Amino acid sequence: MKSKEILLFGASGQIGRNLIRKLTKSNYKITAVTRNIHRKGYLLKTQANPGYLELVELTNFNSSKIDELFKNCSICINLIGILYEKKKNQFKTIHNDLPNMLSLKANKFKLDKFIHMSSLGIEKANDSKYAVSKLEGEKNIIKNFKKSIILKPSIVYSVDDNFTTNFMTLLSRLPIMPLYYNGSTKFNPIHVSDLVDILYHMVENRNNDLILECLGPEKLSFKEIINILLRSIGKRRLLMPLPLSIAKMSAKILQLFPKPLLTMDQLLLLKYDNVKSGLYKTNYDLGFKTEKIFEKEVNKYSYNWRSGGQFAKQKNL
Ligand SMILES: NC(=O)c1ccc[n+]([C@@H]2O[C@H](COP(=O)([O-])OP(=O)(O)OC[C@H]3O[C@@H](n4cnc5c(N)ncnc54)[C@H](OP(=O)(O)O)[C@@H]3O)[C@@H](O)[C@H]2O)c1
Repeated sequence: MKSKEILLFGASGQIGRNLIRKLTKSNYKITAVTRNIHRKGYLLKTQANPGYLELVELTNFNSSKIDELFKNCSICINLIGILYEKKKNQFKTIHNDLPNMLSLKANKFKLDKFIHMSSLGIEKANDSKYAVSKLEGEKNIIKNFKKSIILKPSIVYSVDDNFTTNFMTLLSRLPIMPLYYNGSTKFNPIHVSDLVDILYHMVENRNNDLILECLGPEKLSFKEIINILLRSIGKRRLLMPLPLSIAKMSAKILQLFPKPLLTMDQLLLLKYDNVKSGLYKTNYDLGFKTEKIFEKEVNKYSYNWRSGGQFAKQKNL
C-alpha cells in the first residue's frame, strides 16, 4: 500500500512553505520539486524535520523524470504560478501546459487526488493572458482527472508574501501612491494559514471533483487595503487616482523592469473584482469560516516598515 506521500510542485513559494510545515507535522512525507536546490534549499530544508522532506531538482518538466516521481506518491499538489511573463507564451506553459501534463499523469498513475492552485476572479477577465491561461488550465484538469480539486484564492497574504510586503516598502518610500481604476477594485484577502488549513482539509478528506473559491472574511477595495497598510506602518501618503491612459503608459514602462511592479496584463486584470463569483462552492459552503482579519494580521509584521521599528508606538492617523 502507498504511504502518505505527497509530491509538491511550487513548494518554495509562500503557500508551499506554509503547507510543508502543516503537512509534515501531521506525518505526511513530502517530495518537494524546485528548479534550483542551491537557491531554494535553505528556504525549504528548514520547513520540516529530517526524514519528512525530500528535495528534487527539475530544471525542465521532463516527462519521464516526472513519471518516476509520480510512481512514489498518492497525492500531487501543484502550486506553480507566475504573475508576469519573462518570455512569450510563458503563462500558457506554466498555467495550462504544466497542469495539463500533471493531471494526465495523476490519472495514469491512479493517484488518490490532484490538488491545483488557481485564482479567484478570472472568469470574466478574458482580456488578461494570466486569467485566460489559469482558466484553460482548470478546464484541462477537470477533463483529465476526476479526482481533481481546484482551489481559487484572492490575494494570499502573510509576512512571507509579495503583496503586502512590497506595498509597504513602496508606501514607506514614495510620497504619492497611484490608484488604478480609482482604487475601487474589490478583493477578498485570505491569510496564508487559513488557506493552508483548507488545503490540509482537502488532503485529509474525500473531496474529489471540486472547484472551491477560497474566501477571506472581508471584502476590501484596493484603496481600503492601501489605507490599512498606511495606518499599519504609521505613514500618510497622497493617494492619486490615475487616468487610464497614464496608467497604461506607466504599466508599459514598469513591465520593462526585471521584477515589474505592474504589467499591462496586471492592469487589465485589475479592472475586475477579485471576489466570490457565485459559480462555484466556497470554503464557507464546506463549513470553513476564515477568521483572520487583514488589518490585525498585517499589524503583527508591519513594524518592519514603521519608523522606529518594533518598539515604536503606533500612530493614530
Ligand atoms: N500569492 C497569492 O496572492 C496568490 C493568489 C491567487 C493565486 N495564487 C496561486 O497560488 C499558487 C502559489 O502561489 P505562491 O504565492 O505560493 O507562489 P510563488 O511564491 O509566486 O511561486 C510558487 C513557486 O512556483 C515556482 N515557479 C515560479 N516560476 C516558475 C517557472 N517559470 N517555472 C517553474 N516553476 C516556477 C517557484 O518554485 P522554484 O523556484 O522552487 O522552482 C515558486 O516557488 C500559484 O499558482 C499562484 O498563481 C497565489
